[in-house]
Amino acid sequence: MQSNCEDYSFRELVPDDAPQFRNLRLDALTTSSDVLAATLEEVEADSEGVVRQDIDARIRNGGFSVGAFSKQLEMVGMVNVARPSLERLRHIGCVWGVYVSTEHRNRGLARELLLELIRLARNIEDLHQLHIEVVTSNASAVRLYQEVGFECYGTQPRAIRTNEGYHDEYQLALILR
Ligand SMILES: CC(C)(COP(=O)(O)OP(=O)(O)OC[C@H]1O[C@@H](n2cnc3c(N)ncnc32)[C@H](O)[C@@H]1OP(=O)(O)O)[C@@H](O)C(=O)NCCC(=O)NCCS
Repeated sequence: MQSNCEDYSFRELVPDDAPQFRNLRLDALTTSSDVLAATLEEVEADSEGVVRQDIDARIRNGGFSVGAFSKQLEMVGMVNVARPSLERLRHIGCVWGVYVSTEHRNRGLARELLLELIRLARNIEDLHQLHIEVVTSNASAVRLYQEVGFECYGTQPRAIRTNEGYHDEYQLALILR
């Protein structure tokens, strides 16, 4: 498959990316709220300052985020890894907020973002596995996660409750070491 990811750059995010990070999260909740756990109101409630602190706290806690940027340096995609603070859970990285803005989809960006995330995760010695949850109806995302190496280990019934009802989620893991 021909990828045109060379039109984009990928890098780890820093607290100064907070304005673009917040905008992309708002975009995600506007276009794709049916497959996400957060609500638009919850994302709107966090100011740029709070988002900046969140990015900083994530990095200090051993997690990280990767962004995809267009040639105009607009952030058009993201993936995030959060680390639990409890010592006995710190070997797990929780992947969340996988998103590519609608006009940049189907070019392999999410795949590149996930591969970069996995590459960076492999360099973190005390990070042994990555976990991700995805609503069972999100076939494209499930396929993508399995393609980059995640394996399904369970299904959480009624994981998310929206106005439309309950949604089950697949739980997937990728063993790093
Ligand atoms: C799921 C999501 C992140 C995928 O982003 P994306 O950048 O479009 O993903 P990719 O381009 O890597 O792959 C998507 C599809 O494009 C195809 N594709 C990749 N590169 C391609 C190219 N150059 N030409 C044509 N098709 C291509 C892939 O094979 C894949 O096909 P499939 O859906 O039939 O399996 C995006 O749709 C999204 O943000 N959705 C809303 C939020 C969401 O669902 N997040 C996950 C929650 S857990």
